[in-house]
Amino acid sequence: MLLLWALLVFIHGTACAKVTAYEYNITWVNRNPDGLHMRPVMGINGQWPIPALHVTKGERIVVTVHNHLGNETTSLHWHGLYQNGTAHMDGPPGVAQCEIPPGDSFVYDFKVDQPGTYWFHSHTRGQYPDGLRAPLIVDDPENPFEDEFDEEVVLSFSDWYHDSMVPLLSSFISVTNPTGAEPVPKSALINDSQDVTVAVQAGKTYMIRMIDIRLTSVKELFDAIPDDLNSNVTGWLVLDGNQELPKPANVDDFDPLDDLSIQPLDGAAVLDKVDRTVTLDLKMDNLGDGAN
Ligand SMILES: *[C@@H]1O[C@H](CO)[C@@H](O)[C@H](O)[C@H]1NC(C)=O
Ligand SMILES: *[C@@H]1O[C@H](CO)[C@@H](O)[C@H](O)[C@H]1NC(C)=O
Ligand SMILES: *[C@@H]1O[C@H](CO)[C@@H](O)[C@H](O)[C@H]1NC(C)=O
Ligand SMILES: *[C@@H]1O[C@H](CO)[C@@H](O)[C@H](O)[C@H]1NC(C)=O
Ligand SMILES: *[C@@H]1O[C@H](CO)[C@@H](O)[C@H](O)[C@H]1NC(C)=O
Repeated sequence: MLLLWALLVFIHGTACAKVTAYEYNITWVNRNPDGLHMRPVMGINGQWPIPALHVTKGERIVVTVHNHLGNETTSLHWHGLYQNGTAHMDGPPGVAQCEIPPGDSFVYDFKVDQPGTYWFHSHTRGQYPDGLRAPLIVDDPENPFEDEFDEEVVLSFSDWYHDSMVPLLSSFISVTNPTGAEPVPKSALINDSQDVTVAVQAGKTYMIRMIDIRLTSVKELFDAIPDDLNSNVTGWLVLDGNQELPKPANVDDFDPLDDLSIQPLDGAAVLDKVDRTVTLDLKMDNLGDGAN
């Protein structure tokens, strides 16, 4: 009787949330997003760029992932979601789950309880720069800013490599790369493209969801910048689609926002003063040739 009651509570509890099922076939597709080099990338259901996943807060999603890559294991991680009570759906192989072998499947099944702008990506080795990544937008039915905008725009920002991660990782994690110099990408992309256009109308207010899905590209990180690196990428807001697009303008100076100046919307208090400092001195003895 107790079991039946528990079962009824369970059915009732789950019946309350809207459940949406998705089937993701992960395969290789060939793409050339920077117009410079065609290469295999990881797509979902034959698509790349991979369409954004739009869900509503409170919804339960069931994503059945079939690994049809043939030659690599994979996984999906739901970046930014707490997975409170569903840590086994978080994705990182060797931590939350086993790798999904080629030819095998895994079902991610969890309730999405946080509104906001997130993304999902492979958490297998360095795999996501091979393309297995996309925006994950969680709409809030009680969005406090609902009345302040007319439409939403989703834009991702990333770096792009011409080599696949397999050779890049083996030269990166190598005794011959003792300083850990990061592989330098070939291009920058906005929304997995170099000529994205966003149709806008005069008088409307847009909420822009910007998602940073790059691997490494912070210029300061690179030991040397090769001459063929084109770090410029342009997108256009288009009012009148019949007009020719203007030539891209170079932006010489940026006025970066210091994000320490951003105030939490929920009024969360600043952390107390630091009362203890731990100092750790590290000596890297192997930066010369990789050998100690
Ligand atoms: C996934 O692939 C299987 C065949 O392997 C096919 O039956 C199914 O329709 C595909 N699903 C989607 C969403 O494309
Ligand atoms: C950017 O790409 C995402 C899919 O990755 C798509 O949902 C969105 O509409 C695109 N944004 C624009 C402005 O084209
Ligand atoms: C698997 O095949 C793809 C497409 O041909 C290739 O880009 C990738 O490097 C291969 N992976 C391995 C581990 O060989
Ligand atoms: C996680 O879920 C538990 C049980 O529902 C709840 O008590 C707790 O507050 C949640 N934690 C967070 C960080 O949301
Ligand atoms: C990129 O922009 C910089 C700064 O505006 C400019 O100096 C450079 O020539 C541009 N590079 C290319 C490849 O267009």
